[in-house]
Amino acid sequence: AAKLLTEPFLAGRSVLITAGPTREFWDPVRFLSNRSSGKMGYALAAAVAEAGAQVTLISGPVALDVPPGVHRIQVESAQQMCDATLAQVAVMDILIACAAVADYRPTKQAAQKIKKTDQGLTLALERTTDILEQLANLADKPFIVGFAAETERLEINAYRKLKLKGLDMIAANWVQGGQGFEADDNALTVLWPGGKVELPRTSKTQLARALIKLIAEYYHAKGS
Ligand code: CTP
Ligand code: CA
Repeated sequence: AAKLLTEPFLAGRSVLITAGPTREFWDPVRFLSNRSSGKMGYALAAAVAEAGAQVTLISGPVALDVPPGVHRIQVESAQQMCDATLAQVAVMDILIACAAVADYRPTKQAAQKIKKTDQGLTLALERTTDILEQLANLADKPFIVGFAAETERLEINAYRKLKLKGLDMIAANWVQGGQGFEADDNALTVLWPGGKVELPRTSKTQLARALIKLIAEYYHAKGS
């Protein structure tokens, strides 16, 4: 039998995790979304539960089981994910924003299924709310870890997001070839003000455990 995998180094803490894609509907049966499978976010939720914390997982639509001991709140749109996050964040010690939130949504959502015509169709899009930017000015913020999925200039782009969103830490990963989305493994470059660690390619289960150790280390070092 497998022995306990980790010590409870986050015992007594409350951790909020966002995971998966969002769906932005433009009629009752059609939506815009992205390639996120939710695997990394769910692996993080499992690793945080193993570390002894109370875990709340705000999840977009994914085909994954809820890890043992994790409280899941299911949402669809970026706005619902934003509302759920704002409703939970005040009582959280740590927030890990792993979700691939849509940046744009259709400006209109038709009440009925849109019928095809012989013409092309142009969808008008508008920005969604950036959840992490909303939190940046909160008085009593949790320790916030963001994610960045990049196809170019990984570190420069991730560092910009760390600063812009006032994050404590950011975990950046390449999206290229089979890596980054949908796969069962991944690698991460983790950045914080004044430091960097590379977590080499491994299963998302192992990678999540390594990232949670790193987060806990810096969370505790910050005197929290
Ligand atoms: N994020 C968020 N709310 C959004 C979009 C993104 O909270 N509406 C969070 C993600 O969960 C992630 C971080 O912001 O933790 C970075 O997301 P990413 O898509 O990489 O960056 P963006 O700021 O959206 O910039 P871009 O997509 O243009 O690279
Ligand atoms: Ca984005």
